[in-house]
Amino acid sequence: MTGIFISFEGIDGSGKSTQVALLNERLEALDRAITVVREPGGTVLSEQIRGLLLDHHSRGLSKRAEALLFSTARAQTVHEVIIPALERGEIVICDRYADSTIAYQGYGRELPLNEIITIQEFATRNIQPDLKVLLDLSVDVAATRLLGSYADRMESAGRAFQMRVRQGYLELAREAPDDWLVLDGDQSKEIIASKIASYVEQEIIKDS
Ligand code: ADP
Ligand code: TYD
Repeated sequence: MTGIFISFEGIDGSGKSTQVALLNERLEALDRAITVVREPGGTVLSEQIRGLLLDHHSRGLSKRAEALLFSTARAQTVHEVIIPALERGEIVICDRYADSTIAYQGYGRELPLNEIITIQEFATRNIQPDLKVLLDLSVDVAATRLLGSYADRMESAGRAFQMRVRQGYLELAREAPDDWLVLDGDQSKEIIASKIASYVEQEIIKDS
């Protein structure tokens, strides 16, 4: 596959969607097609699963069913959207990917990490991003940013949960530093965007 695959990760409110949009804008100047996808989502099935997962009516959902549903939505997105776009040589920018399930269901829900990782390998056919961008932000600053906006079922899981997720991401990045660009999410949107764009242009696109 000749495309380039970039994922964005971080706790809720860390600025992922903002930076996905800014990177997309910046890369539009290149003569190369771009596919942007958010997870869970990007296909009819994945959006339906998203609805189930984020709905407060699903509060009885077991941790394992939750992990499998996020992974099922991903398997369909990989099949229908990500692989075809990479095969066409496009730049794929993903707002969350497999590391979200490792961080949220593995570290956050405290399910066995090795089992969650195995499920991700299966769901994604082991297709890994060329770059994972982690926007690291304290849980309190992120919560302040989200004040006043609707909190879905996952966002209502509590402060201790979000703290485990944040630490999980930092551990994943520590274990595989070559895969990750870790940025302090508490800088201005413009500064973060320019750091990501420089890194992507110099280290990722140049090498491809
Ligand atoms: P996420 O997709 O990670 O949940 P968003 O990009 O939706 O985060 O951002 C959450 C909120 O924080 C939005 O209101 C957004 O405008 C704001 N925001 C994003 N990045 C920054 C930043 N660097 N500094 C201050 N506020 C930000
Ligand atoms: P998202 O739409 O990215 O929310 P936000 O823009 O607020 O960050 O993701 C929806 C929620 O689902 C979010 O709380 C993170 C959670 N999530 C998981 O728990 N596991 C996963 O595998 C994914 C992709 C998301």
